[in-house]
Amino acid sequence: KFDQLAKTPPMGWNSWNKFACNVSEKLIMQMADEMVSSGMQDAGYEYVVIDDCWQVDRDENGEIVVDKDRFPHGMKYVADYVHSKGLKFGIYSCAGSKTCAGRPGGRGHEFQDARTYASYGVDYLKYDWCNTTTQEAKSSYTTMRDGLFAAKRPIVFSLCEWGTAKPWEWAKEVGHLWRTTGDIVDRWDSMIDILDKEKDLAKYSGPGGWNDPDMLEVGNGGMTTEEYRTHFSLWCMLAAPLMAGNDLGNMSPETAEILKNAEVIALDQDVLGKQGFCYRDNGDYEIWIKKLANNEKAACLLNRSDEEKTVQVDYNVLLKANDNYWASEPYKLENYKLRDLWEHKEVSLEKSTVFVKMPPHSVKVYRFLKK
Ligand code: DGJ
Repeated sequence: KFDQLAKTPPMGWNSWNKFACNVSEKLIMQMADEMVSSGMQDAGYEYVVIDDCWQVDRDENGEIVVDKDRFPHGMKYVADYVHSKGLKFGIYSCAGSKTCAGRPGGRGHEFQDARTYASYGVDYLKYDWCNTTTQEAKSSYTTMRDGLFAAKRPIVFSLCEWGTAKPWEWAKEVGHLWRTTGDIVDRWDSMIDILDKEKDLAKYSGPGGWNDPDMLEVGNGGMTTEEYRTHFSLWCMLAAPLMAGNDLGNMSPETAEILKNAEVIALDQDVLGKQGFCYRDNGDYEIWIKKLANNEKAACLLNRSDEEKTVQVDYNVLLKANDNYWASEPYKLENYKLRDLWEHKEVSLEKSTVFVKMPPHSVKVYRFLKK
């Protein structure tokens, strides 16, 4: 695989969560425009990815055929437009004979399709797992990886196998990100279910190969603003790929504020590339910790319950919390400042233990910064 790609989790936008099969050249070009004008590009979002339903057939040479009604100028035209905005272009296919929406899949056409994608100017490929019947996941995805490599254009390879074949154990050699679960639904319970499934996977994720808990639902309407803030914070604590899935042309100020929170994005994009871990699980209340470069640390307090909670917070514990032990070195509270990353304020460390009131389904996200 091309291993200089995805040193930090990929960031971008994907059509599926909001638009499903309703993709077109017009939509993709508009979203590219909005990526720039909304400030998403400046916040770090880079890839504009068309998910399922852009393809309709194969011609007599086995070449994939683009839906001409929806993409009248062909795919290279769309890719060129996306590139002209300083963005990167992504596309979707499937390891099976057909995609999940029943369009022609990649099976048996891997090398040919990879060459076609390279000729369009594709920078990112999401590869799904529907209609695969007896296929073996590792070898199927490896074939596509080899196809992409042979096509000689650096393309981020996103495996969408949903976790059944434990891709975290083998996909680092194959792709740059791999789905760990089934599809996210735009609801609190679904988001929290996915979070729980990430708890044992932290050690598999890192620069060049990331666990993918699925794309963001922020702004799609099924959760409250508080819940979306939680969803986004947790995905950043997990060092998850950040693929916005909302209508960028119709973002509320709250949605934009969440998706563009630079201090929270910085946790996700931290160069150490460590996925956060659940340090304390008290049922309704959890503490997540993410190690950052330069011995800095992020801590995310999570109130999963439907009730407001007042929790006791010991900053010494948050700073010293480690994967499987409690390290006092090199973490000395006096060497750090504390930031609240949603309030955008420095928090006093004068008292090392405080009580924090947390609304239902909310988070508090802190960063310990070196003085
Ligand atoms: C299943 C994937 O998990 C989704 O993210 C999306 O790509 C759909 N297939 C498209 O059919």
